[in-house]
Amino acid sequence: MREPVTFRDRSSCACPALVLRNLRGRETLAKDTQSGPALLAGAHVDAAAYEKMYAASISDPEAFWGEHGKRIDWIKPYTKVKDTSFAHDDVHIRWYEDGTLNVAANCIDRHLATRGDQTAIIFEPDEPTDPAQHITYNELAEHVGRFANVLKDLGVRKGDRVVIYLPMIPEAAYAMLACARIGAIHSIVFAGFSPDALSARINGCGAKVVITSDGAPRGGRITELKDNVNKALLHVVHDTKCLVVKRTGAQVAWIGGRDVWYDDVAARVSSDCPPEEMNAEDPLFILYTSGSTGQPKGVVHTTGGYLVYASMTHEITFDYKDGDIFWCTADVGWVTGHSYIVYGPLANGATTLMFEGVPTYPDAGRFWAVCEKHKVNQFYTAPTAIRALMGKGPDYVTKYDLSSLKLLGSVGEPINPEAWNWYNEHVGKGKCPIVDTWWQTETGGHMMTPLPGAHALKPGAAQHPFFGVKPLVLDPAAGTVIEGNGVEGVLVIADSWPGQMRTVWGDHERFVKTYFSDYKGYYFTGDGCRRDADGDYWITGRVDDVINVSGHRMGTAEVESALVAHEAVSEAAVVGYPHPIKGQGIYCYVTLMADETPSEELKKKLSDWVREEIGPIAKPDVIQWAPGLPKTRSGKIMRRILRKIAENDFGSLGDTSTLADPSVVDDLIANRAKT
Ligand code: PRX
Repeated sequence: MREPVTFRDRSSCACPALVLRNLRGRETLAKDTQSGPALLAGAHVDAAAYEKMYAASISDPEAFWGEHGKRIDWIKPYTKVKDTSFAHDDVHIRWYEDGTLNVAANCIDRHLATRGDQTAIIFEPDEPTDPAQHITYNELAEHVGRFANVLKDLGVRKGDRVVIYLPMIPEAAYAMLACARIGAIHSIVFAGFSPDALSARINGCGAKVVITSDGAPRGGRITELKDNVNKALLHVVHDTKCLVVKRTGAQVAWIGGRDVWYDDVAARVSSDCPPEEMNAEDPLFILYTSGSTGQPKGVVHTTGGYLVYASMTHEITFDYKDGDIFWCTADVGWVTGHSYIVYGPLANGATTLMFEGVPTYPDAGRFWAVCEKHKVNQFYTAPTAIRALMGKGPDYVTKYDLSSLKLLGSVGEPINPEAWNWYNEHVGKGKCPIVDTWWQTETGGHMMTPLPGAHALKPGAAQHPFFGVKPLVLDPAAGTVIEGNGVEGVLVIADSWPGQMRTVWGDHERFVKTYFSDYKGYYFTGDGCRRDADGDYWITGRVDDVINVSGHRMGTAEVESALVAHEAVSEAAVVGYPHPIKGQGIYCYVTLMADETPSEELKKKLSDWVREEIGPIAKPDVIQWAPGLPKTRSGKIMRRILRKIAENDFGSLGDTSTLADPSVVDDLIANRAKT
């Protein structure tokens, strides 16, 4: 297995040029005026309640979160609420630290007396002609208890790590909750990731078991997940068992002793598994996410604070009420799926929909067909999906009855006004508030969003901080706080909230360096933002080397590492550029080895190579041959210039006189690839 190559140093991202790049764009297209659907009447939180609760959450977080921590069930109630510090030399984050609880018991057992026969999970399979499943809370208890005993049978114990590499099937939720039940730490790897990416994550967290399926149907095609695991495990350095759930019935290559069919073990274990008593600060899961370096980091979330925050944001942001059908279209491989398909909704006793397919299969009406079929009340998706469906025309929407919808949500990237308007007009029929939720893998739950009963909407703005979130806008270069309204800068958070990540798995130093070093005393989000004249927040995009491709977060360094690992490549630099559907596309500048001849065929080979190395989501959109890259005399690549060329914006290349060889820029401009 190839170690990810980190082949150059990343400088601090406190760079005004980067920030300004991101501050142009969406928000200049949209007016700051309020518009759209009316506020939801009778919502959990109205304007007055928001003001009061927000003020209380900031002035006395101990009292506020002490009270709201009671929304979940504790085995041993906490007496301490908050012990957190963002001080650079002493970063620690602890919430409810002397309380004990079990997340699975909160998501299942505590509902059984009152809603055992209520549907917990609706499963909508990839093929619309296959029957949907309705899994009640009683059934969920059975499934999860049995799954937990299967894991125990394989030797999994409290604190052990389990990697989950599954399609969007109910077993993914059972597996997560089974881990939580016995105190194992799960780490889900999105089923679209390659064997290499999978093995890096299995090694990274030292997983004892990988849970997968024989295959993953998606959009009418099958991904051979078990084959991917077989390849990945060739590069895993410790003993790992492979637990296989049957989904397609396909023949799979098998290694006796290592591979185990779920059904075989499940047939001989009971479904009764008492929940493990966990400390509030015991890890619940690790989720690998991209950053500025070639190596994804394992974001660690813990048990108590995360569940309080996921459940509270789910209830309040979406104004979830008993009996509602909630659908978040994300994959459980991303944080959105963790917090808003599984943990938040189930902790609230909700009915949550899991969809195995894609928005365009069998046609571009699938989302709306599912909304009609299951009478969905709250629908939560990503702007990239909206843009893709928008391109197919409104007829795919209008033929379905969407009258059950009360609220729409958006997540993952800034939503452009055109997409927002289309979503509002054709899906929400002008009556469903759209909550544009800004947050991150690191934050566990929503950080900024309009609340549907409290805030008149501004298309494209995340608008208001959630309770307990204290955003500040900083001058990117000086690091000083910019007060007042009508200002722009980088976004930091001044104090901790219960859903915050606690550390990077196995590397607390990296946690401190990544989030608390550029701007001392604050959590640095990596995003730029603007606070408009009314004090509303607009997220303007990443200010570091992270790009957002179809709502998937990717480090440009990861793609570069994959490219330079190919024998034909001498050097590579990757940047994002505006893409009409994906939000950002992947633009690669590639310098070949001296004896290589550039050709279209080689471009295709490199593109397929990256796809193989990381996964389909990382496939380059554009490759440009670069005989030279713009470097300073000390050898640092000037990415600012590469971004401008990719964006087709040659007017503001800035000072190129410090380059070792300014002529490379002319060549790159002359040969810019078509986007
Ligand atoms: O740049 C922001 C963007 O997505 C990044 C976080 O990506 P990830 O950790 O994969 O989590 C995505 C789902 C929570 C952020 O740093 N982002 C997320 N939501 C929004 C957004 N940008 C603008 N508006 C949003 N609503």
